[in-house]
Amino acid sequence: MKLAVVGGGSTYTPELIDGFARLRDTLPIEELVLVDPAADRLELIGGLARRIFAKQGHDGTIVTTSDLDAGVDGADAVLLQLRVGGQAAREQDETWPLECGCVGQETTGAGGLAKALRTVPVVLDIAERVRRANPDAWIIDFTNPVGIVTRALLQAGHKAVGLCNVAIGFQRKFARMLGVAPGDVHLDHVGLNHLTWETGVRLGGPEGEDVLPGLLAEHGDAIAADLRLPRQIIDRLGVVPSYYLRYFYAHDEVVRELRTKPSRAAEVAAMEKQLLEMYGDPALDEKPELLAKRGGAFYSEAAVDLAASLLGGGGSPYQVVNTYNNGTLPFIPDDAVIEVQAAVGSKGATPLAVPRLDPLYAGLIANVTAYEDLALQAALHGGRDRVVRALLAHPLVGQYEYAEALTDQLIAHNREHLAWA
Ligand code: G6P
Ligand code: MN
Repeated sequence: MKLAVVGGGSTYTPELIDGFARLRDTLPIEELVLVDPAADRLELIGGLARRIFAKQGHDGTIVTTSDLDAGVDGADAVLLQLRVGGQAAREQDETWPLECGCVGQETTGAGGLAKALRTVPVVLDIAERVRRANPDAWIIDFTNPVGIVTRALLQAGHKAVGLCNVAIGFQRKFARMLGVAPGDVHLDHVGLNHLTWETGVRLGGPEGEDVLPGLLAEHGDAIAADLRLPRQIIDRLGVVPSYYLRYFYAHDEVVRELRTKPSRAAEVAAMEKQLLEMYGDPALDEKPELLAKRGGAFYSEAAVDLAASLLGGGGSPYQVVNTYNNGTLPFIPDDAVIEVQAAVGSKGATPLAVPRLDPLYAGLIANVTAYEDLALQAALHGGRDRVVRALLAHPLVGQYEYAEALTDQLIAHNREHLAWA
């Protein structure tokens, strides 16, 4: 089995490699290609990746290349984990929306729109080249904003599934709290990427007993503290929102906070510098502790599970992924991309049925779906008007004055990445 990772020069990659090494029985990789335009980073990360494989007794080959077409040639699956413009572009996304009193975040709000506009054309070009090299290859998209990027890929007819680590993070956390194996925890996970709620926590599988009420009674304080939301709001909802919902439920509080501290991009850039120095040490042969301070915990395990199922192997039968709605949530279009539990196999992902959703969640999901639709139109076809329309539809922007001002900022800060600007 051959796997290619586009954006393989990311400082996150050792997390992925560690998972590939540990879980080699689930996903037997013969050849792993790390593809990245940054040759210097690739060399560092490739070296560490080989040492991690060697230490853990994985005899797969690791190849590094900056030649995308050669790298994906013959791959059974291609993982996309790129970041157009790097942390520098992210820093901008996190900063200029604050001037209008709107949240500055890499995937939520106006910053997320900027990221979508930079990213969609690049990902579509890569996907086209993957398809040319091997029409049967699966594309696993980690590239944010995952919902919009996955929708772009599916609409262009690609064999793609979008993936995020939020669900697997909750699964692991709840398993620890319940004292059971992670595989025994089945989440009723519903929404859009980075806009999800855990509405049930079942033991054993989709038909298992829902232990969420007991879990909240016993561990509600810890769960709320982790999300940095008051316990009261968790109790009011009776479900567990993802930490991205804090940007909605505590929007103004988050804006005040963000205005007084360095951006997450700046924090990450400092960590990346340290990480790259560590990766250059020939004695390092495991993923360093410092990597745990990044947001990507368990993403390797989610990736292995999904790739194993798509490639006909032994992944979990149900996994939380991003795929077409196809009637699962009847209040949004079939071709919206949702993030839910799905049956996953070599033919792809099919969402499990979701019971009627409380309007408290359905309303926000419908609203953000409309934004994502308009965001994708702006990313595909460009133009100032399309950007304004997307921002007018976004529940965290909405007002014309902000939509106009944020559009000007978005264009001014992203000109080099936008062909039409
Ligand atoms: C989580 C999200 C990812 C996001 C990451 C950011 O893992 O699911 O989509 O990219 O956090 O982490 P960072 O360490 O870059 O802030
Ligand atoms: Mn994510």
